[in-house]
Amino acid sequence: MSIASIKALLNTTATFSLKETLAFLANEYKDKVVFSTSFGQEDQVITAIIAKQNLPITIFTLDTGRLFQETYDVFHKTMTKYKIDIKTYFPEATAVEELLNEKGPNSFYESVENRKECCFIRKVAPLIKALKGNSVWITGLRAEQSENRNDLDLFEYDSKFDIIKFNPLLKWTLKEVEDYLEANNVPQNTLHKKGFVSIGCAPCTRAISDDEDIRAGRWWWESSHKECGLHQK
Ligand code: ADX
Ligand code: SF4
Repeated sequence: MSIASIKALLNTTATFSLKETLAFLANEYKDKVVFSTSFGQEDQVITAIIAKQNLPITIFTLDTGRLFQETYDVFHKTMTKYKIDIKTYFPEATAVEELLNEKGPNSFYESVENRKECCFIRKVAPLIKALKGNSVWITGLRAEQSENRNDLDLFEYDSKFDIIKFNPLLKWTLKEVEDYLEANNVPQNTLHKKGFVSIGCAPCTRAISDDEDIRAGRWWWESSHKECGLHQK
């Protein structure tokens, strides 16, 4: 994928709405467009748009095996409400068994290295499987979420996974996301009402207070860059 192709995509879709851009991509890259959802607020906006237009975009989730019950609840509600399939990728059983046998169930609290090892087994390795053979990967990333995400582009080439990445909500504010969800009656994770903004695995996510950064509740015991390897460049 060349920079010229990315620029062409940007130019073509420059005057399109989000709905139109998703429809254009689905048509242009037939059966090779995938969207990853963790059922966060941003993901629910994109899911609703894909579902309402019945677009041939595969929606998938990475079930790490350590998610909140509330996340499984919104997963189930979303499938039922929109009558859509959400493809689930699970970590390799032997890799999880080896990790637990060697380091126990909570090794992620012990060091950044251990935490990244768990994220690799439970998230990154399944993501590699999910993206394989596809051309476009849609995500719910927003620039506002963190400093690391500020320099992302709407369309970019992800060299780590060798795929075009499309971040359609990049410039949306949290308020715009919330307004869309309310106006369209989209199912939401009930944890959002309890102070959880960015939601990942249960042992690695906590609620935040009003004066805290959006991602302060993720891997809160670390002072690292706080990315799990899905979105690092
Ligand atoms: S993370 O890298 O810190 O975990 P974050 O929770 O902010 O990511 O979500 C950003 C985007 O990454 C989501 O909009 C979604 O596209 C993707 N994503 C994150 N976690 C998952 C997951 N468990 N399954 C599928 N996609 C995910
Ligand atoms: Fe493991 Fe925590 Fe990463 Fe989930 S967020 S994969 S439990 S380290």
